[in-house]
Amino acid sequence: MSEKVSFGSKISLIAATVGSAVGLGNVWRFPNEVQENGGAAFLVVYIGCILLLGIPVMLAEFSLGRGTGLDTVGAFKRLTPSKPWWGIGVISLLASYMITCFYMVVAAWTMHYLWGSIDGSLYAGVGEGITASDMKDVFATQFSDFVGSAWSPMLWIVIVLAVNMFILLKGVKSGIERMSNALMPLLFVILLVLCGVALSLPNADEGVEFFLRPDFSKLNAGVFISALGQAFFSLSLGMGILITYSSYFPKKDNLTTTAVSVSFCDFLVALLMGFIIFPAVRSFGIGGDGSELQSAALVFVTLPQVFAQMPLTQVWSALFFLLLVIAALTSTVSISEVSILFFQEKMRFSRKKATLLVILPLLIFSPLCSLSQGVLSDMTLFGKNLFDFLDSTTTNYMLPIAALLTCIYVGWVVPKGFFRNEVTNNGKVAVRFFPIVRVLVRYLAPIMILSVFAYQLMS
Ligand code: PHE
Repeated sequence: MSEKVSFGSKISLIAATVGSAVGLGNVWRFPNEVQENGGAAFLVVYIGCILLLGIPVMLAEFSLGRGTGLDTVGAFKRLTPSKPWWGIGVISLLASYMITCFYMVVAAWTMHYLWGSIDGSLYAGVGEGITASDMKDVFATQFSDFVGSAWSPMLWIVIVLAVNMFILLKGVKSGIERMSNALMPLLFVILLVLCGVALSLPNADEGVEFFLRPDFSKLNAGVFISALGQAFFSLSLGMGILITYSSYFPKKDNLTTTAVSVSFCDFLVALLMGFIIFPAVRSFGIGGDGSELQSAALVFVTLPQVFAQMPLTQVWSALFFLLLVIAALTSTVSISEVSILFFQEKMRFSRKKATLLVILPLLIFSPLCSLSQGVLSDMTLFGKNLFDFLDSTTTNYMLPIAALLTCIYVGWVVPKGFFRNEVTNNGKVAVRFFPIVRVLVRYLAPIMILSVFAYQLMS
């Protein structure tokens, strides 16, 4: 595999991996989890999950990708050729493609809202003297009309797919690496600017206080499960992304420092998001029943209400949706790369052929996901529309199962010394740290993930 491409520098590989990890999980999932699960008390559990489970599982995935230089299925096949462990890779591969189908749609929404902020159409319905509840209705209707309409999202889906294809066709170095190096610093700058603005709003301190006040009485098994799920989703575990990207890491890279840096940056983005969302929402006294922070409603309904009440509405709105576009785009690129590398390695397809094979079918699947929110909402799978079915099947079942089996595989099955040699670069780095990682991957992570499954089955 001497011709295998690799990222040009440590900063680049961290930027690309952080780009994948930072997504809607940080922006709309995290604040909602914090609010529901006891503020800073959730934060403490979440940090624990990242340190004890997230980083070790990430190292397990990194070792598979970097150690074999292969895709998410090929890595398992290379290490245990005569056993069916590659099935784990197939679960990740399928899950990643299923996620790609609907995540492209959400990425398309973010672009539509960015455009609406720039040309002002997003705020056309809010005139002088409008009441708070009318304003909420305006944005809620606007969002559900847009999402449910047959045609409006299609243009944006095609644009999102075209942008992804453009970047992915250019390959790892001039596509993914250049995109990440340009966009990730921009993302952090926007985040800091918005943080400054949010914290200087009137009564911002009430929001900060809510965010940082720990309510330990809320802690229970459910909170722990949410924190674990959030950590795994946010760090992109079980999706094959980390195996795929780490196959482009140079052999000399210290995987431990990479895993710690990526997890830290991902957490930092979520934390800064908290310092933006809570003060902003509190400052304008929006909601209170919790619904205003729920997933899509937070970014497409609640935040536009905040921006509409601020001076320079369109500027802040455009900056925020640009941030969201960057977060979504770097994630869609990374998740598409999982299938592209698979086709390149497994079928020996050229980069171009593999990219087209992955992106072109999305011209059908993503519009179908979009339509399933509107005209096709009657077409259900297990009682859910296509979009929600893909979302819940992957996040609730496929990703945790893939993560669980990956831990068992790396902890117990891979050839002796493989995991150690990868994490320590053959005994040169992180040597004292490794035994702890091994214990966590062998015992704690599988036990925790299994307990979550058991608890969910019982309740
Ligand atoms: N970690 C990503 C997030 O927080 C998860 C993800 C990655 C989803 C790539 C889709 C594609 O949103």
